[in-house]
Amino acid sequence: MNILVIGANGQIGKMVVDKIHSNSPHDAIAMVRKGSQQEQFKKRGIETVTADLENDFSHAYEGNNAVIFVAGSGADTGADKTDMVDRKGAMKAIDLAVKHNFVRFIMLSAFGADLNPQEWPKNMAHYYDAKAAADDYLQQTNLNYTIIRPGRLTNDSGSGKVDFGERTDERQGAIPRQDVAEVLVQCLDADSTYRKTLELLSGDCTIKQAIEAI
Ligand SMILES: NC(=O)c1ccc[n+]([C@@H]2O[C@H](COP(=O)([O-])OP(=O)(O)OC[C@H]3O[C@@H](n4cnc5c(N)ncnc54)[C@H](OP(=O)(O)O)[C@@H]3O)[C@@H](O)[C@H]2O)c1
Repeated sequence: MNILVIGANGQIGKMVVDKIHSNSPHDAIAMVRKGSQQEQFKKRGIETVTADLENDFSHAYEGNNAVIFVAGSGADTGADKTDMVDRKGAMKAIDLAVKHNFVRFIMLSAFGADLNPQEWPKNMAHYYDAKAAADDYLQQTNLNYTIIRPGRLTNDSGSGKVDFGERTDERQGAIPRQDVAEVLVQCLDADSTYRKTLELLSGDCTIKQAIEAI
C-alpha cells in the first residue's frame, strides 16, 4: 500500500513513517504542513507532500491508497482549531479516502471519546466531542477502517507490551508513543482489526499476540 501519513511531522507521525519505511512492505508518504519539514524525510528517500487539513488537501491523495491519520490540533490551540483539524479536517480526510476508494484507513483517536459527554473533563470536552464525531463519521463509511483509542501518551521507551482490544469498563492508563506507533503500523495488514474500534494501553501482551487475539 501507499500510505499517506497525515500528521507525519508529529511525534507519533515521525515514528509511524519511520516504521513503515524501514520495517514494512508498504511505502509511507509523509504529509506535512511546511516545506521546511520535508527534508528530514526526503534525505532518507521517503516521499513527502505538503498539505494542510485546514485548506484543500485533495492533491495529497493522488497515487496513494491508504491513510494513517495521526494529526491533531494540539493542547495549546483553541476550540476553533480543534474544530478545523480534529473534526472537519478528519472528516474531509475520510471523505477523500471514500472518493478515491482507499483500501485502508487507520484513525488515531483518544481513549474516552465514546464516553457519555458528561464524563469528559470540561476543559477537554470540545476535543473529545470532535474526536467522537470524526470516529462516528468513519464508522458510517464502507472504508476498511481501524479506530485506535490510546490512553494518555507518554515519551517513555516502548515496552512492546500492550492491552489492546474492544472497550471494557476496567481499562485506564497510559501508553508510550513508541508503542502506539508500532500498533498503528502492525494493524495495517491485520484483518482482526478491520472495521473495529479498539482501546490501547500498556499491558502484558506482545503487540503481535494482542492483535491476533482480537
Ligand atoms: N496527548 C495525549 O495524551 C493523547 C491521548 C490520546 C490521543 N491523542 C491524539 O494523538 C495525536 C498525535 O499525538 P502526537 O503526540 O504525535 O501529536 P503532535 O506531536 O502534536 O502531532 C500532531 C501533528 O498534527 C499536525 N497538524 C496539526 N494541524 C494540522 C493541519 N491543519 N494540517 C495537517 N497537519 C496538522 C502537526 O503539524 P506540525 O508538526 O506542522 O505542527 C503535527 O505534526 C494528538 O494530536 C491527539 O489527537 C493524544
